[in-house]
Amino acid sequence: MKHSTKRLRLSLIVAMATFASVAWAQNTAGGLFEVIKPAPSVNLGMVELGKKLYFDPRLSKSGFISCNSCHNLHMGGTDNLRTSIGDKWQQGPINSPTVLNSSLNVAQFWDGRAADLKEQAGGPIANPGEMAFTHTLAVGILESIPAYKREFKTVFGQDKIDINQVTAAIAEFEKTLVTPNSRFDQWLLGNKEAMSPKELAGLKLFQDSGCVACHNGAALGGNSFQKMGIVESYKAKSGGEGRSAVTGKDADRFNYKVPMLRNVELTYPYFHDGAAKTLTEAVDIMGRLQLGRKFSQSENEQIVAFLKTLTGDQPLFRLPILPPSSEATPLPNPWAKN
Ligand code: HEC
Ligand code: HEC
Repeated sequence: MKHSTKRLRLSLIVAMATFASVAWAQNTAGGLFEVIKPAPSVNLGMVELGKKLYFDPRLSKSGFISCNSCHNLHMGGTDNLRTSIGDKWQQGPINSPTVLNSSLNVAQFWDGRAADLKEQAGGPIANPGEMAFTHTLAVGILESIPAYKREFKTVFGQDKIDINQVTAAIAEFEKTLVTPNSRFDQWLLGNKEAMSPKELAGLKLFQDSGCVACHNGAALGGNSFQKMGIVESYKAKSGGEGRSAVTGKDADRFNYKVPMLRNVELTYPYFHDGAAKTLTEAVDIMGRLQLGRKFSQSENEQIVAFLKTLTGDQPLFRLPILPPSSEATPLPNPWAKN
């Protein structure tokens, strides 16, 4: 049973790869990829508010951890750590994915347990291993800050702040974190000079060897859940069973959301357990475990060169200045016993 599923998956991949190489001949990249579009139209007031909240450590119990601590927008929207550091220096169980282009994900988190960005944004605030706060306490803090009260009222037209407004504003800000105009996008749009022969050879390998079966679309991933370790099983550095934790289905064990490869040059280390330190290592593991293919050093270098053309324009904005606390604002509690 197990083997026939494996064979089925592999023949699907081979079929896709064949399709890809035919498409390559037409020099269109086969419609397997799409360009990253600039940010969609958003509610600007909500974005400005959401940006402040994204950077505001007062939404954590310690008063020290903000969304940006683990999804640092100076660093590709990640923390570049194997797994994140949470409240009281706790070691997180899983690698922090980038928030860049996260609006393109079919669902949020490695196992897809949040349907969208708004649902996701409530998670970390109340997660004891991350910001370790409660929604009530976080809203209480915001209520005690007069400039926030005014801004929420202007944006949402209501007298009381609630957690729905907080998560809606953060999600609206996150929608602006798209990274268009990478060299790959320029190439897709017809600028044949945008990529070097080596990078194009990498793209061809990426298509012909079957990476595209899982990493496709505008973000080269983020649109399906797939097993990690198809041809060879993967020995993860951390526990966790992937998508089956959400669906309860045995067939989904060790299935993870296929990560987007946009900006992958910036988002090291790789995989849900952060075990692969470099792109060279990640590409080698993907080749062997997902496709049963051992790339030569020069093939590996070509694919890595291609992956580096996926770095787009990083979000550009003024660092928000956060409104000051008032005398009524509860003090942060970084060293609380519980
Ligand atoms: C302590 C570190 C930490 C903090 C603080 C944190 N995150 Fe995360 N974030 C993570 C980790 C780790 C994951 C992956 C968890 C998982 O998949 O189980 C994640 C997942 C996400 C995802 C899903 C991305 C994807 O590709 O699935 C988004 C979006 C996100 N966080 C946004 C936020 C926002 C917004 C905040 C602030 C309200 C925040 N995070 C605070 C560590 C953190
Ligand atoms: C069968 C589906 C599938 C195929 C084929 C596949 N991948 Fe992946 N890829 C995944 C999944 C699932 C993950 C996440 C695994 C994990 O974190 O445990 C992943 C992760 C990655 C990562 C790490 C990204 C990150 O942010 O952590 C890179 C890089 C990558 N793949 C490149 C490739 C390349 C290059 C190929 C072709 C040689 C390829 N993949 C083939 C499904 C696939």
